Amino acid sequence: MNEPIKTIALLTSGGDAPGMNAAIRAVVRACSYYRIDCVGVYRGYQGLIEGDYEPLTARHVSNLINKGGTSLKSARSNEFRTVEGRAKAYEELKKAGINALVVIGGDGTFTGALKFNEEHGFPVVGIPGTIDNDIFGTDYTIGYDTALNTVVSAIDKIRDTASSHNRLFFIEVMGRDAGFIALNSGIGAGAEEILIPEENLGLDRLVESLNKSRDKGKTSSIVVVSEGDKIGKNVFELAEHIENNFEDYDIRVSVLGHMQRGGSPSCFDRVLASRLGVAAVEAILDKKSNIMVGVTNNIVTQTSLSDAIKMNNEINKELLKVAEITSV
Ligand code: F6P
Repeated sequence: MNEPIKTIALLTSGGDAPGMNAAIRAVVRACSYYRIDCVGVYRGYQGLIEGDYEPLTARHVSNLINKGGTSLKSARSNEFRTVEGRAKAYEELKKAGINALVVIGGDGTFTGALKFNEEHGFPVVGIPGTIDNDIFGTDYTIGYDTALNTVVSAIDKIRDTASSHNRLFFIEVMGRDAGFIALNSGIGAGAEEILIPEENLGLDRLVESLNKSRDKGKTSSIVVVSEGDKIGKNVFELAEHIENNFEDYDIRVSVLGHMQRGGSPSCFDRVLASRLGVAAVEAILDKKSNIMVGVTNNIVTQTSLSDAIKMNNEINKELLKVAEITSV
């Protein structure tokens, strides 16, 4: 498609993340600044198929930068996974005179955008928004910093009660396939052990480590477990296994769950979202497609959507060492 860009559509898809609203605001205002129209699509790809659109002007996004969640709503659309669903979405976009699409989300969102572009040649640009920070091509995804701070503050509170009762706590944090939240919040909250999907330390190593902690006189401990941990047991089974090995331990499990996805975005996430929102609109005006905008070494970069999906961010080995050293 090589028509002049007059109208951009914008949607959020997949798991919501704090800062998505700040990104929506930035896209809408960048459109206004560059004198093009912006249309908000509700409920992600499902709204795209159903033509659930609303024109958005700079004033529509007033007082939005500080709000958690996504004002455009989010959904995981099964229909968009089908060729027919994507064809319907294309027809709706054409009918509404839209020339390009900005999608805010994670891996699944980008996979859908890429397929859509392959089939219909429709220009698409992605903005990484997920608390998991698991997107290749950006040092940070929108929402990750806020989620980390939420998790650290929750663990701080659990630590108070853990230490009052001499208890061992297993705390499950989000991260279906990636341990970034667990590793960084674990270090930030001073956890004794951190279990992440990227490193299978095994149960014996966990038992050994807890033994060491006890021998060194620790009376309470925090084990942060990423929900995607590959040790082969869920957090409750893990706790049970440890309970069977340490009969004198008083063990509790806390699953932080979806509270990690909510709340007002941190300043870091608001600035990141603002930069990426502007960069996405500028990329479209530059006739770029099938790319994701991100930030690498504090510079705004572009990565092909296929790389963003296919490749993985590596866990920083230095952080693993720091976690080990600081938990002695
Ligand atoms: O947003 C990513 C994520 O938080 C994952 O860490 C988690 O596994 C998933 O979303 C859960 O999402 P939902 O409950 O919305 O399916």
